[in-house]
Amino acid sequence: MPASRRGSGTITLPTGVTLNYHTRTNEEEDLPHATKKTMADHLRKFESLFTLTPQRMRMIVDAFTESLEIGLESSGQVVPMIPTFVFGWPSGHESGEYLALDLGGTNLRVCLVTLHGGGKFEITQSKYRLTEEQKHDDGQKLFDFCADCVKTFINSNLGDSEEMIKSGVKLPLGFTFSYPCSQERIDHGVLIRWTKGFSAPNTEGCDVAAMFREALEAQNVPVDLVALTCDTTGTLIASTYVNPKTKIAVIFGTGCNAAYMETIKEIPKLKGCGFADDTEIAINCEWGAFDSFQHEHLPRTKYDITVDESSNKPGEQAFEKLISGRYLGEILRLVICDLIDEGVLFLGQNTYKIEIPYSFDTAFLSLMESDPTDELLMIIGIFTHFFALETTLAERQFFRALAKLIGKRSARLSACGIAAIVNRKSLLEDGCSVGADGSLYNKYPGFADRVHEGLQDIFGDKGLNIVTHHAEDGSGIGSAIIAAMTKKRKETGLYPNY
Ligand code: GLC
Repeated sequence: MPASRRGSGTITLPTGVTLNYHTRTNEEEDLPHATKKTMADHLRKFESLFTLTPQRMRMIVDAFTESLEIGLESSGQVVPMIPTFVFGWPSGHESGEYLALDLGGTNLRVCLVTLHGGGKFEITQSKYRLTEEQKHDDGQKLFDFCADCVKTFINSNLGDSEEMIKSGVKLPLGFTFSYPCSQERIDHGVLIRWTKGFSAPNTEGCDVAAMFREALEAQNVPVDLVALTCDTTGTLIASTYVNPKTKIAVIFGTGCNAAYMETIKEIPKLKGCGFADDTEIAINCEWGAFDSFQHEHLPRTKYDITVDESSNKPGEQAFEKLISGRYLGEILRLVICDLIDEGVLFLGQNTYKIEIPYSFDTAFLSLMESDPTDELLMIIGIFTHFFALETTLAERQFFRALAKLIGKRSARLSACGIAAIVNRKSLLEDGCSVGADGSLYNKYPGFADRVHEGLQDIFGDKGLNIVTHHAEDGSGIGSAIIAAMTKKRKETGLYPNY
């Protein structure tokens, strides 16, 4: 039997029974713990690894701004800067009933949205949790499941779907599919690559709108797929519907991404499509891909490299892997495992639970940072309840400080992305509102403040002109508004083939 690398281990006996063993390194009754001084020394090391100086941030912003430009020049670039065929801002008068289907990172949601105009709306929705299996099973099955959920929703909220089909009624639907798709028109989208841990085969390189339409037809669902959109584009449109000062939308959730409005004459890759030069079109940046493959600009620690290399998409989504909720817990877990390997933490305790990849949820970082007690009782709870590990106060203070470093780096890098769009659109002098959504933005304590601090580190006092705010639900309301805008645009004959 090989010696355990860590203070504990598991042996499988020939009978198949497993035994856990603990390695004690001294004679004392109490479990050996790292001293306060050791933890403080380690913290200093991690501080220098995870801290982003203003100067470094400005360098990232410059490279980022250039990547955005390159993406607008031609197709197939690292940051793809996808034209979404959402032309211009909503008027605020959009009205009517629309369905929205939201396939994000974690859930599937079906919504019925009633737009009343004047920035007012009502929404009824059903949520279904996606299983891990569904994320990796055949793509067509995923869209069959989507169609099934839409049909069930219609039957329970709007009437008999079979009757609707017979009488030729079709409900307009906006499909929020939050993965990078290159679009030739608004009701089309070829999946460039899965992100956020999805890997359903037979989907990359395919038109997901066509796959979903096929599923709707096969199941007789009375729906007309009007627009395929992304959560960021939806957020941009939904935010402006209620707050016209919004110029940029960002999502910091399981994944991270941004959208903003660009003028046709600034998009060389759309030359020759016949759009008027001053027409505006929403761009889905897919900025999570910034610095993918080459890894030239972002400061990656060895933990980030492990996250990347052990992911189902090594090399891809380099920016997202340093920022988004899917990865932050895993980064912290890898640091802890490293310190276990070095014999610094949890000597003599059974560490198998914390050694399981992705067992450390990003929500734990939020909880650790917001623990209000002197003893850090919340952190005691997390470690004993989820990982069966005992901690000392010095260790808990270290974990909290580590969470802060990782959370802060995520927010400061997010500020770099926002700053790149602010540069691109020269928004600094006049300032602008940035509509933001996603679990990190909404639930991580201090995330927004850290983004704002980051913007000031990049731009000085003028950074105060850029303010993020919690956005309206882009994947539901935004998708419905986009469906309404698209129907109207086509009825009025503006770019009807797009
Ligand atoms: C990932 C997706 C992107 C989405 C973002 C936030 O980056 O590729 O489309 O907007 O996550 O959900």
